[in-house]
Amino acid sequence: KKGGYPHYMLKEIHEQPDALHNTITPRVKNGMLDFKEDGIADDVFTDINRVIIIGCGTAMHAGLIGKVMFEKLLRIPVTVEIASEFRYNDPILDKNTLVITISQSGETADTLAALRLSKEAGCKTLSIVNVKGSSIARESDYVFYTHAGPEIAVASTKAYMVQLSSIYMIAFKFAMLRGTISKETCEDYLKQLQDTINAVATTIDLDKQIEKISECLTSVEDLFFIGRGLDYPLSCEGSIKLKEISYIHSEAYAAGELKHGTLSLVTDDVPVIALATQEKVYSKMISNIREVRARGAMVILITNGEMPVDDDLCAHHIVLPKTDDQFAPFTAAVVLQLIAYYTSVHRGLNVDQPRNLAKSVTVE
Ligand code: M6R
Repeated sequence: KKGGYPHYMLKEIHEQPDALHNTITPRVKNGMLDFKEDGIADDVFTDINRVIIIGCGTAMHAGLIGKVMFEKLLRIPVTVEIASEFRYNDPILDKNTLVITISQSGETADTLAALRLSKEAGCKTLSIVNVKGSSIARESDYVFYTHAGPEIAVASTKAYMVQLSSIYMIAFKFAMLRGTISKETCEDYLKQLQDTINAVATTIDLDKQIEKISECLTSVEDLFFIGRGLDYPLSCEGSIKLKEISYIHSEAYAAGELKHGTLSLVTDDVPVIALATQEKVYSKMISNIREVRARGAMVILITNGEMPVDDDLCAHHIVLPKTDDQFAPFTAAVVLQLIAYYTSVHRGLNVDQPRNLAKSVTVE
């Protein structure tokens, strides 16, 4: 059942290139994105002046990446909401709001309730869902199915990956239709998204290096993930993944926020996983890493391709296959998944079924 892998999670990490291929390829016609088979009309974003992305856990983290990409490409304000907060906070909603719900199972109780609330308030609704015919899919105006196949491990990996690819495709297509990017740019981005599939496969090949590096996390109690730009929401995902299956306490921090509180927790040998994939803020990230190094942190650095790195900056350096920075979340996510996976294995834990957690949270 596990296809020769010791755990479903590792199997599902390895299935990511196929999951991406299956999600992207049916939507590409003559080098351009086509959502006709999804029944998603070209005018979905017409009259929309605000987008709210809603989900729980990892799905919500995909939404955080979505916010950055949508705002950058579509130039529409986007907020990301935790479903269980949104539904009780008396949100301001109207017919010019597009609500995008993201869910692997399509059955998460809070996400479903948030969707119903949005519909009652007259919002347009679109969902990004993996399970066909699930409640969230059935109740949304539009459904953009991800094609990850069944995900068994409680820790979500391939579902997150295809959620990202779906968000990117939606952003590319509707940015072109809105005229905020040109047709040529849309085609170029789509091509780069397709190339990312190989980059994800190449990143999975780093697995022996990551297995070895993860040994140094086996007996730690706390650690931090830091990043800027797209690397910050990615840090949130790295942190939840590690927490849920390794039981190590971790926190994701926007690197520029360290000085505003968390830096006091960074002392000798505290592990800091530093994501530095975004060239635009690379020098800022390096300064932040120097700050934690000055307090004795043990830094695991992740960069997009080879970057200049001083000898004493990090204990370990993981080099992602180079992609354009906006696609780095795909490759970096693989590294974060493998770190969580191997740390859990080294600690002798139940990787696929961590304590207290269920795959599908259908009750509040
Ligand atoms: O099925 P959903 O995508 O709606 O599930 C949402 C979360 O429960 C889920 O992503 C959870 O956070 C994962 N176990 C994280 O790996």
